Amino acid sequence: MEKINIGILGYGVVGVGVAKLLKQKKQLLEDRTGAVLYLKTIADIDTTTDRGLDIGDTQLVSDANLIIDDPGIDIIVETIGGETIAKAFILKALENKKHVVTANKALLAGHGNDLVKTARKNLVDLAFEASTGGCMPIIKSLRESLVANDIKSMSGILNGTCNYILTKISKDGSEFETALKDAQELGYAEAEPSLDIDGFDTAHKLAILNSLAHGMEINLNDIHVEGIRNITPVDIEFAKEFGYTIKLLAIGKIHKEHVEARVHPTMIPNSNPLSYVDTSMNAIVIDADATGQTMLYGHGAGMMPTASAVLSDIADIARNIISGTKRRVPILGYPEDNIKPIEILPMEELYTRYYLRFEAQDHPGVLSKISGILGENNISIKSVHQKGRKTNGKVPIVMITHIAKEAWVQKALKEISKTDSVVGDPVVIRIEEAAQE
Ligand code: HSE
Repeated sequence: MEKINIGILGYGVVGVGVAKLLKQKKQLLEDRTGAVLYLKTIADIDTTTDRGLDIGDTQLVSDANLIIDDPGIDIIVETIGGETIAKAFILKALENKKHVVTANKALLAGHGNDLVKTARKNLVDLAFEASTGGCMPIIKSLRESLVANDIKSMSGILNGTCNYILTKISKDGSEFETALKDAQELGYAEAEPSLDIDGFDTAHKLAILNSLAHGMEINLNDIHVEGIRNITPVDIEFAKEFGYTIKLLAIGKIHKEHVEARVHPTMIPNSNPLSYVDTSMNAIVIDADATGQTMLYGHGAGMMPTASAVLSDIADIARNIISGTKRRVPILGYPEDNIKPIEILPMEELYTRYYLRFEAQDHPGVLSKISGILGENNISIKSVHQKGRKTNGKVPIVMITHIAKEAWVQKALKEISKTDSVVGDPVVIRIEEAAQE
């Protein structure tokens, strides 16, 4: 049986998970791939901490070059994370004609186009199923299973930390900070939690998915990103009253000439299956023309779910090697020459519905002043709600709009903020009526 030699860069949670799964599933993987997947070397600057795993004759070294420059190693798994050292190591590994498997969404979103070019130049594979949605096979679905479909839209809950926090606030009445601390202790959160709660981790994943879905260059910079810091229990309560749930969504939609790509807290009706996706779970609804809606649901983070996704890439590459092929499936789902830059729709051009909450002065005429400004800016109000007790002379007023243009809404909100009718910045939450809307 052919032996495929593997090296792992980074022996943290995911690296340990990959080593563990290679060991635990040795026989199953041999039966399924027809190859021996041998973990030859692991590199990490920390070679002394006990990870609770007997790695047998696998070498644990502190110098990553002992893997990257080892002519005997076929596949390199990068589980270091971050964009600096990991990028240098991956580029060198690709230049050394190694196939690379990575879980590094930030790196792919920021530098993926360069990595793909380098992999192409060196005729090797670059695989990243674990980068997005943990164990959910979303990369393979877009790249292979849905190959005969135009992907009309994708709506996903792609950050377990944010979903955990929103669920805890909504279901248990937890405070934001307490829920974040729990998520950190449970190991979902990034080392730098603002990547999670300010929406950037979700945006990294959306940048990758958009590229696969539409054959476009990876474009992180033009994605509109908002996180969940401004979501309060008051908004969650209002949402419940209206039959909505608030989720941090990654939304990607194709239009004729451009793509919509945005990450922000979103109100979705309780009939939308994404509204049932709670705690740290991830899910994505893909609306494609031949299939209609398909939904994937699963653990978006955690040692073994992530390791499972890494192993699926290792197995793909091992199968290629033993069948004498490589780069059978294009890295971004389209041969590199067919990948185009597709423009992302500027946020001001978006049309959607809005939930607007103002802290309003409890004076006569305030409501007509706010609705007057909205009307002058073409924004039609569907309903107005006032709830709760007056505090310091202020009352929360919520307005739900009909479909309006983002530019109109932002202009109107600026005008409203300048009046003495409201205090502070209004809360704006966009509404998606249906998963495929
Ligand atoms: N911090 C990420 C999350 C980990 O919370 O989902 C998985 O990418």
